[in-house]
Amino acid sequence: MTGPGIRRTLSALALAVATGAAALLAAPAAQAATIPLTSVVPAPVTAAPTAGVTYTLGSATTVYTEPGSTAAADIGAYLAGILRPSTGYALPVAPAPTGSPSGIALLLTGAPASVGAQGYQLDVTSTAVTVRANQPAGLFAGVQTLRQLLPAAVEATTVQAGPWQVGGAHVVDYPRFGYRGAMLDVARHFFPPAAVRRYVDQLALYKINYLHLHLSDDQGWRIAINSWPNLAVYGGGTAVGGDPGGYYTQADYTALVAYAASRYITVVPEIDMPGHTNAALASYAQLNCNGVAPARYTGTNVGFSSLCVPLALTYTFIDQVVGELAALTPGPYLHIGGDEASSTSATDYTTFIDRVQQIVAAHGKTVLGWHDVVHATPQPSRIAQFWGTGTSDAAVAAAAANGTKVIMSPANRAYLDMKYKNSTRLGQKWAGLIDVDKAYDWNPGAYLSGVGESSVLGVEAPLWTETIRTTADIDYMAFPRLPALAELGWSPYSTHNLTAFKTRLGAQGPRWRVMGIGYYQSTQVSWPAGS
Ligand code: ACM
Repeated sequence: MTGPGIRRTLSALALAVATGAAALLAAPAAQAATIPLTSVVPAPVTAAPTAGVTYTLGSATTVYTEPGSTAAADIGAYLAGILRPSTGYALPVAPAPTGSPSGIALLLTGAPASVGAQGYQLDVTSTAVTVRANQPAGLFAGVQTLRQLLPAAVEATTVQAGPWQVGGAHVVDYPRFGYRGAMLDVARHFFPPAAVRRYVDQLALYKINYLHLHLSDDQGWRIAINSWPNLAVYGGGTAVGGDPGGYYTQADYTALVAYAASRYITVVPEIDMPGHTNAALASYAQLNCNGVAPARYTGTNVGFSSLCVPLALTYTFIDQVVGELAALTPGPYLHIGGDEASSTSATDYTTFIDRVQQIVAAHGKTVLGWHDVVHATPQPSRIAQFWGTGTSDAAVAAAAANGTKVIMSPANRAYLDMKYKNSTRLGQKWAGLIDVDKAYDWNPGAYLSGVGESSVLGVEAPLWTETIRTTADIDYMAFPRLPALAELGWSPYSTHNLTAFKTRLGAQGPRWRVMGIGYYQSTQVSWPAGS
């Protein structure tokens, strides 16, 4: 507590003594210590506190937004929607008046050019919190920083005691990489739309801007395809371990894509092929080289299934699936998997991936594939997602030298389904154990030999769900590692410091407790009590 805060408390008490207990209840709340800028995850590019200055959110606060911008008004409504339940304040959202309004202002003017399309400037004075950005995505990012600077209790869904104070600050912030992703495997276990929305909301808090949905695998097909209805209805009926299956109708999926977009997150759909296709092969006998549909599969082996490469119908099938999926996908990318095709010969693999790349391009989408696809013919703008466990891969380096951009998801660093330690109840360990230090302490722009910063599109944290069945399981595996990967994708490497990061991470714990996120209490981090 600061000196002035103590004085304010003492004078409030003196007033209470003079006028009775009712006055004590009505007295202004004591000034609490504000959350330091060094607690924000991902670490901002520059963040300077203004000593002695505090902004207090009050019952009369208005959230002002850029006049004439629906996107800014929507972001204002989103922010007010988070703040109203806990503060109990009305927090009206209104177009900003000219001049410098007091209150909260989300403006699309006056941001430095250096913050680009995704960055923002945040200024906190005693009368106003002003976020300025060049694009709505930047305002949204700035709002996430503001959330983290308010007390953790602001995330509660019921009215909490304030005060709701933010320390004076000047922040200029923008991302290192344009692609900051998380992948959710909804194939091994199906996660209904509400579970995905919950994850989307968690991703948004850490400025992640892509959600990759692994929509098909041996154990289940999760998206309705009108021209091949059995895929979802039959192929979607199973999950690992005999757990219930499920699938998204196209209306469900469209709503999910729109929900993610409202959080400035672009969905990347993946149909994994030619391997990882037992659910499709089980759904249609005619897709099999021998014309016989295999049984549906609920185990966890990989590498045993393959689409039939010589069969003409295979490409009709893919064209129709990709066509429907592309039509449901406003984002630029369509992920074709391509990993672990151990039942496809090397020649067939190249033939297959070459054709599929063309199909995806014909439907107007950019091909994204697991890095195995670099063994097929390079295609302009194709993106490879590195998931290896080493730090060198000659084929990926050669592709990068020829212009292929790489998304970094090294399995021994970025895979959220790896166990934290041997005794972790959930997860796998084929890529090793991953605690906070392992997840955080690497440099995506200088990790893979021959794949330098300029070849890296970004970072993605995949969560495979062979052992993950519930939202509580997702919480436990994603937190605290997801914020580590988010920081690697956003923050300049000059801010990289494991010790400082662990302190920042610990500061998130109270927020997660208020949000009901059941995180893993890594012993590498000191988790402060309370909220
Ligand atoms: C993968 O983990 N098979 C991409």
